[in-house]
Amino acid sequence: ATWEFVEYLTFLSCLTFHSPFLTNTHNLLHTKFSPLYKPILQSSLQNLRFSSSSTPKPRYILTPSNSGQVHASVVCSRKHSLQIRVRSGGHDYEGLSSQADVPFVLVDLVNLRRIEIDLESNTAWVQSGATLGELYYEIGSKSRTLAFPAGVCATIGVGGHLSGGGKGFLTRKYGLAADNVLDAIVVNARAQVLDRESMGEDLFWAIRGGGAASFGIVVAWKIKLVPVPPKVTVFTIPVTLEQGATDLAYKWQHVAPKLPEDLYIRAFFRVGENTKGSRTIVALFTALYLGNADQLEPILNSSFPELGVSSEHLQEKRWIETVQYFAGNKRGEKLEDLKNRYWAEKGYWVAKSDFVSEPISKESLRALWEVMLKGEPGLLFWDPYGGKMESVSESETPFPHRKGNLYNIQYYSKWQKAGDGEEKAHREWINSVYNFMTPLVTKNPRGAYLNYRDLSLGSNGGDGFASFEDAKVWGESYFKGNFKRLARIKAKVDPENYFRNEQSIPPLFD
Ligand code: FDA
Repeated sequence: ATWEFVEYLTFLSCLTFHSPFLTNTHNLLHTKFSPLYKPILQSSLQNLRFSSSSTPKPRYILTPSNSGQVHASVVCSRKHSLQIRVRSGGHDYEGLSSQADVPFVLVDLVNLRRIEIDLESNTAWVQSGATLGELYYEIGSKSRTLAFPAGVCATIGVGGHLSGGGKGFLTRKYGLAADNVLDAIVVNARAQVLDRESMGEDLFWAIRGGGAASFGIVVAWKIKLVPVPPKVTVFTIPVTLEQGATDLAYKWQHVAPKLPEDLYIRAFFRVGENTKGSRTIVALFTALYLGNADQLEPILNSSFPELGVSSEHLQEKRWIETVQYFAGNKRGEKLEDLKNRYWAEKGYWVAKSDFVSEPISKESLRALWEVMLKGEPGLLFWDPYGGKMESVSESETPFPHRKGNLYNIQYYSKWQKAGDGEEKAHREWINSVYNFMTPLVTKNPRGAYLNYRDLSLGSNGGDGFASFEDAKVWGESYFKGNFKRLARIKAKVDPENYFRNEQSIPPLFD
């Protein structure tokens, strides 16, 4: 239509006017008629629930390659009354980085991927559009003894991950990814480009775990690299119910959060088959130890002998090789494959999360397996806390689930075929397990982890506007008492609530 073309021309001239040194607008602006529009839109849309033809599509896709172009993206989108959805790695569980119910622009940070490592200060500047795999690879290729504590899946984007917390096998030793951020470059709702000093400590606090999408666009992060030994040790032990998984899961709850912080044992439960071919629960205990195998064996023998780990299970590796091991490396994969931005296991999924502060009894565990064995199967990930997570106060960052939490649970159910029936069945499975767990997990509020975003906890609605009181329903699950501080900061930095979505922080004016 003519008006669409006129709008496009004015949008384009706005971008050209506000982007310094922009020589080729085809690298920045993509309309529905551009050849790259669809490939870019699909490229990092990881949850295929949001890839159907009925999913609302962006008016334009912008792929800025410097902070000046991010500034121009904000100026021009606001001028044209278009909302912004910003995307780094596209793993948002509810697809909030790729779609919106209101007219919107997708700012995809795929061209902002620079990583600069400084071995003098053991720090790095990483742009938000880089993936964790790209970051890990870069660190691993510069040093055998430096690492970064963040998530497990290599295709996760730095931008979304750091701004929602970010945890993985180094979390008991070094805390969350967000705990290891030293500085950041943010473009705020007024389109100003700010660093830590110019944004002030409030906004800098909010973007490290509070979900930066409520506050602006983070262009880059300065992170602290952490020391690891040149050789570390990993193992994985699978155990079925028939082989004693219940006893091990019970014991794990008492042991894993109390172990020395150099040792991280994740437990993972899925519905599988036993040797007789009938359905059972398979538990997988998979671990990283920041030391060599000889040091690890006596620790396991004294604290968790029931696991039956012997020297044959232990593999010594460089830290960067363990990244690939935990990301599920396939035969023949090279370290370079960590840089592959395409997630080969893309699919449809639903998920929820919880925190546990009291060990669950064996009786309840047996009842849990019964619930899990009914219907469409999914998985449970149990990530141990304790260690460094105990010593960071609840208000140090927006992520409040620290001292007193034994572990975090993720319920995750995935399927590969489109169809409403599939989604219904997988939701029913998740909901039945989640409902069963209600008395066994944290309450008032029941905890949840922002990076496992879950709109069934509550939503601001499609237009993104909600009162502070209404948003508390989901906000306090993610942030507990920090939700109020986030809402006050929001009122200060974005009083008109430009950066909003179904679960953005509403402004709270005093
Ligand atoms: P995406 O681009 O979708 O962004 C997520 C949210 O952040 C959106 O609201 C988006 O608008 C916003 N955002 C993104 N970039 C931004 C920017 N530059 N500025 C402002 N806002 C921005 N988590 C974990 O802690 N540990 C783990 O091990 C894993 N493992 C894991 C495996 C798999 C297979 C999946 C799908 C997910 C995980 N996660 C995880 C969860 C992951 O940390 C979470 O989904 C992150 O938000 C993903 O960040 P992306 O940049 O990829 O997502």
